[in-house]
Amino acid sequence: MNIIFARDYDELSRLAAAKVADTMRSKPGAVLGLPTGSTPLGMYRELISMYKEGKLSFKDVTTFNLDEYEGIPKEDENSYYRFMRDNFFSHIDIDKGRTNIPDGMSCDVEEECRDYERRIEKASGIDLMVLGIGNNGHIGFNEPASYYAGITHRVKLHQNTIEANARFFGSVEKVPKYAVTMGIKSIMHCRSIMILASGKAKAGAIKKALEGSITPELPASVLQLHRDLTVIVDEEAGSLLK
Ligand code: F6R
Repeated sequence: MNIIFARDYDELSRLAAAKVADTMRSKPGAVLGLPTGSTPLGMYRELISMYKEGKLSFKDVTTFNLDEYEGIPKEDENSYYRFMRDNFFSHIDIDKGRTNIPDGMSCDVEEECRDYERRIEKASGIDLMVLGIGNNGHIGFNEPASYYAGITHRVKLHQNTIEANARFFGSVEKVPKYAVTMGIKSIMHCRSIMILASGKAKAGAIKKALEGSITPELPASVLQLHRDLTVIVDEEAGSLLK
């Protein structure tokens, strides 16, 4: 495990973008796993700048997003489809046909999950999976549980997550109760993983994830078992680490 302590959020974002760029340069046609949320926004901004300065092209890159809410139309301002389009994809030269996000409006969610796994397999797996972490230790929408959920699946969101995400929806009631997420097995299968954490609110989850026991009650703790894990924390998120 490689833990990088960034001074602040800006440095974290630059380091994360540099790691994505390295992956793309060392493997033309790289396959990236991508998160939404507040944490990766700075990384996306950095990557967009690199593209605009002519330092990076996303033409041959394939992406798989981690998750999507269920029952939120693509064009809704809170869908992860919209998040990715507005914050990243529409600013770079990526082929939209190579971007993959679970379809939260599918009338056959189970089949959508199986198909998502087939698409990942067809792309020969994910080279670099970028993750954020929830205050409760979730990764993707893999919530604390008594077992590890395997592949892409439908999940009921925890009250903790619903409350944390209410800031985007205006109220707790408007946050969807279900989502589709890549599972722990899908994530652990990725050839390398980079997890990002910024701010005081993440310090406890990061400490438990990296220094605590490996348990599905703290989903991110399973990452300790991955053979190519990079962790980037800013000063606040890393403040409780030994
Ligand atoms: C988002 C996702 C979530 C977030 C996590 C942290 O696609 O999978 O696990 O990474 O909830 O969110 P932020 O970055 O908003 O604190």
